[in-house]
Amino acid sequence: MASTPSNLPCHVAVIMDGNGRWAKERGLPRTEGHRAGAEKIRAIVEECNRLGIRYLTLYAFSAENWRRPQNEIRALMALLEFFLKRETSDLARNGVRLQAIGRLHNLPESCQRQLHASMEATAGGTGLTLVLALSYGGREEIVDGIKSLFRHIQEGHADIAMLDPEFFSKHLYTRYYPDPDLLIRTSGEMRLSNFLLWQLSYAEIVITRKFWPDFGQEDLHAALEEFASRQRRFGGV
Ligand code: FPP
Repeated sequence: MASTPSNLPCHVAVIMDGNGRWAKERGLPRTEGHRAGAEKIRAIVEECNRLGIRYLTLYAFSAENWRRPQNEIRALMALLEFFLKRETSDLARNGVRLQAIGRLHNLPESCQRQLHASMEATAGGTGLTLVLALSYGGREEIVDGIKSLFRHIQEGHADIAMLDPEFFSKHLYTRYYPDPDLLIRTSGEMRLSNFLLWQLSYAEIVITRKFWPDFGQEDLHAALEEFASRQRRFGGV
């Protein structure tokens, strides 16, 4: 049994990048990279749950990913549905609660149906909360948050004078979760790519050069150890 690192983050967020390059290196179609990437999710979810991490947010499909070729989008949506169908009973058995953030109404209807069924089936989970970011963009989330806040004020439930960061964050998709403490990005890119722009303000960032389909439990452990070695001052001294 693997050891348990000390000083664990409560919330880990992951940008799962490099599926396409992983496939290209092997002379495979990009969709094979996504399939291999999807298979890697299980081991990471299991390990986060075993360690007692409370929240894991995965960037599974960005608002910008709709610009990809139709066949790749179709393959990703089919994979999402397949993955949810296959994994839901195991997630429920292991106490993992599935949630999703993003403009979910943009997903194909069959995906939305499966997503809601999986969320319902795992709603009682008291272990890890697994949050899938789907059709998600950080700027879009902030705009949706402003719209929600405006409605709230127009309906007379709040006053503009009450507005501060804490109050605003109650209008974001992530209002039920604490901000991520640790962001992991695979494949070596040094970008946020419109992911959780508001929530990552004070997150520690760990970038690994490995492509997502090569990212395993030992890489998760290395990222957690790197996190534990950092001193977080949140702007103080
Ligand atoms: C980035 O690889 C990955 C994504 C587009 C999202 C992550 C998707 C998965 C892990 C597959 C499982 C998905 C679902 C919806 C269950 P890339 O294509 O950007 O890689 P590249 O930068 O090397 O081209």
